[in-house]
Amino acid sequence: MYPYQIAPMMGWTDKHFRYLMRVLGGDQFLLFSEMVTVNAIAYGDAHRYLEKSDIEGDVVLQIGGSNLQRVAESIKQAEAYNYCGYNLNVGCPSDRVQNAKIGACLMAEGKLVAKILSVMQDHTDKPVSIKTRVGIDGVDSYDYFRSFVDEVLESGCHTWIVHARDAWLKGLSPRQNRSIPPLRYEYPYRLKQELPHLHVSLNGGLVDKETIEGSLEKVDAVMLGRAAYQNPRLIHELGGLNESYESLLHTYIQYIHENLNDLQLRRLIAPLVIALMGYHGAKSDRARLAMCRKPSEVRMVLDNLSLPQ
Ligand SMILES: Cc1cc2nc3c(=O)[nH]c(=O)nc-3n(C[C@H](O)[C@H](O)[C@H](O)COP(=O)(O)O)c2cc1C
Repeated sequence: MYPYQIAPMMGWTDKHFRYLMRVLGGDQFLLFSEMVTVNAIAYGDAHRYLEKSDIEGDVVLQIGGSNLQRVAESIKQAEAYNYCGYNLNVGCPSDRVQNAKIGACLMAEGKLVAKILSVMQDHTDKPVSIKTRVGIDGVDSYDYFRSFVDEVLESGCHTWIVHARDAWLKGLSPRQNRSIPPLRYEYPYRLKQELPHLHVSLNGGLVDKETIEGSLEKVDAVMLGRAAYQNPRLIHELGGLNESYESLLHTYIQYIHENLNDLQLRRLIAPLVIALMGYHGAKSDRARLAMCRKPSEVRMVLDNLSLPQ
């Protein structure tokens, strides 16, 4: 069982970022993919979306979708990629996903969510989990949250990740939806108290070790989102590895060298750009690396970093 989880984050948690998290956090972290919609798997370049490498260790694939047939097909395809489990997104509030009946809007349809989770479970032996909000559209009450949980439990899905905020489907952008609705940690705490057999993970606004450790006394795990890219030193602190932060960044630098022919050069270097922090010369290292557009430029900057050994 992992005490810590790195949240699924579109635009961030691709295979490169996940590898950096594994390097910094060691085996204390369960990692999640970006959300992949079932339509992207059915009609897009599925391999591009599902690709992962074994050096990342345990990674859960998060899917978004409600079309049962496509959900089934997606899990079948994903089985070839060695994910350690699957997660259903019931938390994304963006208009685009709402129109496709994906994400937080599904909180209004607990029975459908139970069916989706059952289909997922029918097509894999791996653990299936749900990531949800505590409410939608200002219906902010424990009773509402609990009745959604009860409907969904019909599926037998016992692993819950709770982003402890209500999602407002109208009037707020996805970004605002991650900060304006108030945090309700008391809801997942109470859920765990009432249904101790559930595996409950708390997500939302966790940025310091003290709060994180305190939460772990009340739930089974905590999931960190923005803190992972705003303060990767926290991941290192929680992971408790003996190696220094700087020496672990050198491991990632070695990985960059080995993958410089990756077509998505910017995504390969982005994790290092944000992680270069907290030493003399870090600001200039970050700026120079962020400017690189070609493998040869990256090589030159990496060979001349001020990063201590
Ligand atoms: C850039 C970004 C992209 C996100 N993409 C996803 C996603 O693909 N799936 C998902 O369930 N949540 C997504 N989220 C929400 C996070 O997983 C998390 O629930 C949220 O950021 C709250 O946690 P935090 O306060 O620790 O950041 C995203 C958040 C951010 C900041």
